[in-house]
Amino acid sequence: MKFTDVRGLELTTTSAKAVDHFNESIAANAEYRLNAGDLMAEAIQADPSFTMAHCAMGYYLKSAEAFAPPEASMECLLAAEATDLSKVTRREQMSVKALRAWIENRQDDAIAIWDSILDDHPTDLLTLQLVHYRNFWHGKAIAIKDSVARAFYAWDKSMPNYSNVLGMYSFGYNENGDKVRGLELGLEAVSLNSDDLWAVHALSHVYHDTGEKAKGIALLSGDKPEWDDRNAIREHLRWHESILHWDLGDYDKVLSLYDNHVAKAITPFYLDIQNTAAVLWRLECAGIDVGNRWQNLSDVVAQRVVTRNLPFTDIHLAMVLGRTGEQTQMKNLIDSIRSDSGRARNAHELSSAETDLAVCEAVDAYCQGDYETSISKLLPNRWNAYRSIGASDAQRDVINVMLGQAALKANESTLARSVFAQRVETKPASQLSWLWYANALEQCGDHSAAQAARAQMLKLEGSLAA
Ligand SMILES: [Fe+2]
Repeated sequence: MKFTDVRGLELTTTSAKAVDHFNESIAANAEYRLNAGDLMAEAIQADPSFTMAHCAMGYYLKSAEAFAPPEASMECLLAAEATDLSKVTRREQMSVKALRAWIENRQDDAIAIWDSILDDHPTDLLTLQLVHYRNFWHGKAIAIKDSVARAFYAWDKSMPNYSNVLGMYSFGYNENGDKVRGLELGLEAVSLNSDDLWAVHALSHVYHDTGEKAKGIALLSGDKPEWDDRNAIREHLRWHESILHWDLGDYDKVLSLYDNHVAKAITPFYLDIQNTAAVLWRLECAGIDVGNRWQNLSDVVAQRVVTRNLPFTDIHLAMVLGRTGEQTQMKNLIDSIRSDSGRARNAHELSSAETDLAVCEAVDAYCQGDYETSISKLLPNRWNAYRSIGASDAQRDVINVMLGQAALKANESTLARSVFAQRVETKPASQLSWLWYANALEQCGDHSAAQAARAQMLKLEGSLAA
C-alpha cells in the first residue's frame, strides 16, 4: 500500500500510524514545537524501516546542534542509509544524500540537492525550510527569498502549514529590501496562523526594519503562555522585543527582558549566544552599564570556541571574549576562523570566512580600545559585504553600529558622519540613529547640522526625547 504525507508526497513505509506521526511531527517542527522530535521518534517506532522518518530526525538533530551530541544526527543518517534505499522514492533517496552532505559540512552540496528535490516536489515543507534556513545562515540573501519563490506557485491556503511558507516568503522579501511585500505576506501569514512563530518572526523583522516599533511590541509583548512549548525561537522573539525597546531608549525594559527571557536559561545553542551578546553590545553602545552580565556568558562561550558552527555566532563569541578579557580564547577563536579560509571550497566560502575573520578581529581590537585597527578591519567589509556572514539585516546592524562607534572614539569624524548618515537614511525612525549622527556632526564641527539632527531626534517616538 502506498502512503502519502498531508500534502500528497509519497512516503515509503508500511505503517499508517507512522505516517500520522510523521505528519504531526512536520507540523510541530514548522511551529517550532518542542515535541517535534518525540513525534518523529514515534514514527520510527511504528516503522523502524521508515527511511524518511530517520532522515527527518537527522535533520532535526543536526539543526538542534548544541542540544544534541554530534554523533546523534550521524546515527540517524546511518539508520536511514541502512533501510532498503532501492525501494524508496527518488525524493527520499536524495533527502538521505542531502543529510549526509550537511553532516559532512558540504553545505553547498546539501543546498543543491534540496533545490533539486524542490524542483520536483515544491510542497516538500521540511526541505523548503531547510534550504531557506541554510541559505539564511550562510549569507545567501537572495536565495532566502528565491528558494521560496521557486516553490510558491504550488502552494495555496487550503494546504497545511501554508502560513509557514508565507512567513518564509515574507522574511525573504524583507531581507532583500522589499518591506512592502514583506509586510503584506507577513500579515497574511499571521492572520492565517498566529501560532506559527516563523510567521510572527517574519513580521517582527518587517516592523523592526520599517521602524514600526509600537506594532512590533504589540505583536511580541506579554506573557505568551502559548509559547511555552516552543524551542529557542521563543528567546529570539524576545530578543526582537528587546531591540525594539532599545531603539526607544527603554533600557530598563531591555535589561528586564534580557534577565527574564533572553538570558534566563542560557545554553551553548548558537541562537542563545547571538541573542545575549547582541543585546549587551547594543546596550553598551547606548552607554548602559550591563554589570556582570558578560561574565555570566563565559562558560557557554568557552564551550563554543571549540565547537564553532556559524560565522555570525563567531562574532558574538568574540564580543563575549573581548568583554571578559579572555585573550587566549580570543586567539584560539581567531586562529580557528583563519584556518577555515584555507579550507574554503569556493568563492562564497572564502568570502564568508574572510569576513568572519575580519569582523572578529575588529571586535577584538575594539574591546582593547584599538579603534583604528577595528575600523581598518571593518571598512573593507562594510554594508553588503557583511551579508556573506549570514543572519538578518536587523542582526548585522550591530556591526555598522560598531563601525560608527569606533569612528567616533577614534575621532575619525567624517567616517562616523558617513556611517550614521547612512543609518539615518535606512533607519529614520530611530532616535539613536539621529543622536549618533548628531554626535558625528558635532565632532566634524558642523554645529548647526548637529543641532538639526538633535531636533529631528526629539520629534521621534522614544525616551531620548523625554
Ligand atoms: Fe530574527
